Amino acid sequence: MDFEREYRRAVELIEGELQGCLTDEGPQRELLEAMRYSLLAGGKRIRPVLALKFCEGVCGSMEPALDFACGVEMLHTYSLIHDDLPCMDNDDLRRGKPTCHKVYGECNAVLAGDALQAEAFRRIAASRRSAGLAANARGCAILGEAAGAVKGICAGQYLDMSGEGRALNEGELTQIHLWKTAALLRAACLLGLAASPVEATPEQTAAAEAYAREVGIAFQIRDDMLDQESTTQELGKPVGSDAENEKATFAVLYGLAQCRRLVDEHTAAAKRAVAGRFGNEEFLCRLADALAGRSH
Ligand code: IPE
Ligand code: IPE
Ligand code: MG
Ligand code: MG
Ligand code: MG
Repeated sequence: MDFEREYRRAVELIEGELQGCLTDEGPQRELLEAMRYSLLAGGKRIRPVLALKFCEGVCGSMEPALDFACGVEMLHTYSLIHDDLPCMDNDDLRRGKPTCHKVYGECNAVLAGDALQAEAFRRIAASRRSAGLAANARGCAILGEAAGAVKGICAGQYLDMSGEGRALNEGELTQIHLWKTAALLRAACLLGLAASPVEATPEQTAAAEAYAREVGIAFQIRDDMLDQESTTQELGKPVGSDAENEKATFAVLYGLAQCRRLVDEHTAAAKRAVAGRFGNEEFLCRLADALAGRSH
């Protein structure tokens, strides 16, 4: 299997879809431009790739999940725009470009994030490619859970922000990682299953959830490492941001070497979870490895 080629093919599908979004003209043109600025700034597109690939893993085709994939990337982009605001991480660079609020101002960045979140749900609810209206409703529920304040991004971001300047233990940090990062990766995987016209078995659903949890924790630990060991040029976002904000991270708690071991352990667990469960299991395993070894 040519992993890079398959990944590129999925990303091309997503980029093609996203290019066609938010092109309306009107007096709010600047707001739409701010949304497109962040949405089309690049990014690895991991979440939409997961949605497409878990759909393919069950039914053999990525196409039913295309709207759901766009939705999850829009929601992710909203979370990045708000995460970068001065009242949160106060970062000036994202995806190699000045952050949304640097270019369009804080007010427009808040609105661009709000509106991307709304568009994410609208797109999923209105999909005509998924398995049908029940699948769309299920997709909205999945995304709502991942975005929210009970066990989603808002819950995680709340804990992340209120933990600044404090030492957190492993349990507290894992909770933050699960909510602010793993929850949306889980949603991406489950959205792929929800969109599929072939229903996933309970075993496949459980496997997708376990994979997402492990990849999610590994992903955020790797993100915390890169904040220490990478360069701003390579990362496309400012290194040292966590230290500046006195964030408790795994890199602070355990050091880089122990983090490396943890990332590898969680990645191995993710690969075990999907073994024998999906038609494209090799891709899913290669993806987990690629994320563990990523340099940006
Ligand atoms: C960044 O996510 C935010 C985290 C959850 C660590 P990504 O590393 O997926 O960012 P993009 O989408 O590639 O820019
Ligand atoms: C952000 O975590 C997770 C989100 C919900 C956006 P970080 O604050 O570590 O993400 P980066 O490093 O700014 O991408
Ligand atoms: Mg943050
Ligand atoms: Mg941040
Ligand atoms: Mg980070």
